[in-house]
Amino acid sequence: MNSRIEKDIAYKQIEDNKQKVASDPYRLHYHIMPPVGLLNDPNGFVFFKGQYHIFYQWNPFATNHGPKFWGHSVSEDLVHWREAPIALAPDKWYDKNGCYSGSAIVFEDKIYVFYTGNVIDDEGNRNSYQCMAVSIDGVHFEKKGPVIHVPDGYTAHFRDPKVFFNNGKWFMVLGAQTEKETGEAVLYTSSDLKTWIFKGTLLGAESNGGEDFGYMWECPDIFRLGDKDILLVCPQGIPARGFQYQNIFQSGYFAGQIDYDNVSFLHDSFVELDRGFDFYAPQTTVDKKGRRLLFGWLGNAEVGESKHPTVKYNWIHALTIPRYLEWKDGKLWQCPVEELEKLYEDETYYDNVVIDNKKPITLPYVYGNVFAMKLGIKNWQASKLIVQIGESNLIYDQTSQVFTFQRKTFTAPHALESRHCVLKNLKEMLIFKDTSSMEIFLNDGEEVFSSRIFDDLEAKDVIFKVEGSVTINIKKWNVKKITKY
Ligand code: FRU
Repeated sequence: MNSRIEKDIAYKQIEDNKQKVASDPYRLHYHIMPPVGLLNDPNGFVFFKGQYHIFYQWNPFATNHGPKFWGHSVSEDLVHWREAPIALAPDKWYDKNGCYSGSAIVFEDKIYVFYTGNVIDDEGNRNSYQCMAVSIDGVHFEKKGPVIHVPDGYTAHFRDPKVFFNNGKWFMVLGAQTEKETGEAVLYTSSDLKTWIFKGTLLGAESNGGEDFGYMWECPDIFRLGDKDILLVCPQGIPARGFQYQNIFQSGYFAGQIDYDNVSFLHDSFVELDRGFDFYAPQTTVDKKGRRLLFGWLGNAEVGESKHPTVKYNWIHALTIPRYLEWKDGKLWQCPVEELEKLYEDETYYDNVVIDNKKPITLPYVYGNVFAMKLGIKNWQASKLIVQIGESNLIYDQTSQVFTFQRKTFTAPHALESRHCVLKNLKEMLIFKDTSSMEIFLNDGEEVFSSRIFDDLEAKDVIFKVEGSVTINIKKWNVKKITKY
């Protein structure tokens, strides 16, 4: 297969669909989206020569999960992104059914990307190869082929290499499925990025709740934050329990201490990263300010994917806004990067608004389809606070200490569906609403809810309701449109 032709067909697909995609009123204003087709995981997040590079899993030809390309966006400030040429197309024998997820590192002034070549043979059997590609200019990537084959004891569900440097050596963590069909994160090491030595299982479902902890673990990432080693991982197949594990696939972290020599991990229990409907496969990097930054897929492989309202405009899914991570009080905190404030305009603020149960209130200028809003909440004498935004509800029940996000379903449009988490004392909410998404950061990043929402676009009101009374400081900004189509 000729890579030029593959890419040319994808570019033509973008051109042919530009108007249709742009005519979707649910197209987002400040998120990274596919120019056409389906986007899923963020890949290859890296800071190179003064620029942030984010790649993403991309099927240009349909809004389902076909053979994946790596789309590519570049930014100087994490906020204004421009689409770069396609980085990888599935055009070699070792990646012909998809250049699946992976990561990037900078070494000797070059970007090295590691990704999974997904291959399905004529009988429908899957094979996976961990592959490498290199770029000198950060734009064009030269494929170097497979560097790792699936080792004994694992199925072909062996993918998503994340490479990092630790104590003088390169490491690669991979998501895997054992022949017993349990999920694992496995480690490799290398001194030259080409020859990789299998070190073993770092952590797996078998030692961590057994079958109920996943038949496959996807998209691992490892980094140090504060005095902890963090393993991010996405187990598939954890049954829902109470408020936990409500989405089809899970995404969360284990924190503790990794012993790289003995390949062991002393860790606390798994914590979900995001409590919303649409979050998966996050990936991190470090920038020149030393910040640990994260992008996630603002989606999940839910059953109703084909019913997404954007599908009729030939596109689906987006990335989250970028977040930065901190380790504090024994937890991972996530905040939107402060650069996003560059997009704020038309600030409106109200100090010490007392809201009580006499009547729901709305405030001049506090409404819209696209905005950011910060609420500081004090003098709690209420059992419940409800902030209705469009057709979604953000509810804090002070008595049970439960926060709830409620949205209209898009599979059965008249029904509501909810996600919850336990949260002690709600003090602050930072809400990013885009035309069809909402990302809610509670208490300065202690909990996050990320979801797509498909409200009636005329439903622009923000309505505050309480049972009892609270005092709220409100700041609201319109957010500039930066996406081009
Ligand atoms: C996660 C995932 C990865 C895989 C990629 C394929 O969403 O299934 O494990 O590499 O998507 O697009």
